[in-house]
Amino acid sequence: MANNDPIVALATKRVQDLTPYLSARRIGGSGHTFLNANEAPKSASYLVQSISFNRYPECQPPELIESYANYAGVQPEKVMVARGSDEVIGLIIRTFCETAKDSIIICPPTYGMYSVSAVNVGVGVVEIAPTSDYQPDVPAILKEFETNANAKVLFLCSPNNPTGNVLEREKLLQILEATQDRAIIVVDEAYIEFSMQDTMIDLLDKYRNLIITRTLSKAFALAGIRCGFALADEEIIKLLLKVIDPYPISDPVAQIAEQALTKSGLEILDARITELNERKAAFINAVKDLEIVQQVFSDKGNFVLIRFKDGEELFYRIAKKGIILRDFNGKPTLDNCIRVTIGSEQEMNEVIDFLKSI
Ligand SMILES: Cc1ncc(COP(=O)(O)O)c(C=O)c1O
Repeated sequence: MANNDPIVALATKRVQDLTPYLSARRIGGSGHTFLNANEAPKSASYLVQSISFNRYPECQPPELIESYANYAGVQPEKVMVARGSDEVIGLIIRTFCETAKDSIIICPPTYGMYSVSAVNVGVGVVEIAPTSDYQPDVPAILKEFETNANAKVLFLCSPNNPTGNVLEREKLLQILEATQDRAIIVVDEAYIEFSMQDTMIDLLDKYRNLIITRTLSKAFALAGIRCGFALADEEIIKLLLKVIDPYPISDPVAQIAEQALTKSGLEILDARITELNERKAAFINAVKDLEIVQQVFSDKGNFVLIRFKDGEELFYRIAKKGIILRDFNGKPTLDNCIRVTIGSEQEMNEVIDFLKSI
């Protein structure tokens, strides 16, 4: 609908037409149990020193880069830190795609920010449906790269949000082999700590066109500080660093992230992963045979996607009880699907009790 406000009319046509990413926070909802954003159920404690708050921070705090490189097992030159992996996604698109000319490729259902970030800067989005087991359709993707010179970046997500499955290594290898000097292949590993054996990080040394994105928002339980990473060939990191803002990482964020990456921080991380993975298995066990449950999707992240007999109705009924989940009804192939984040034991019991009561 046309908006007659002259101030709104000053915005670019693209921004006027833009639908922003509907994050769980923006959707909101009133309740007491929030299992809709794949957040960890509770935060650890951190100490912050204010001694340097009068100074601008480093663009890429060296201790943080070093710590994450050690944790990930890559050279520091292959690491860039930004305000969450969402910022990394935007930077990749702005670095490799020309506005009004180039496109990214995505395989929906997948994380929504790839297309929002592209549209935001006037970059096209080519959607290539995955196979029935939610793997990339390799022949279709390679054909697109062959026939569309403006397709520049492919986004894959492993474990995929919201379907929870990991990318098959063989499929990624076929794509990387065929696109080496031709396109950037991004593997978003936001949830990889819950299934670390499936990381593709070892492929960075062989394939210079691979970018892996990571975050402290999920397994590290630090969504509130906004800290994410790109892991890639040194030349790609240098390119991304041309585009990034001068001070993306505030001093308190760097301090907290460094603490999370110390030996004791990583022990807390390991304990959290084990606890959440065990709770996830118990949750699936408790609900998988219920009458109302049609399908439980793959379980490699800190969430589970479930197809219900009547997911739409159930989503609103459970929301009325104050339990806010994420509705995927209407997304490609996901009718009646609801995603449940693995929260605290009490929160999961609440969901189980509700599902058993109907
Ligand atoms: C697949 C995926 N990638 C990236 C992100 C964004 O993470 P960050 O908090 O690091 O911006 C999310 C958040 O839900 C996600 O699900």
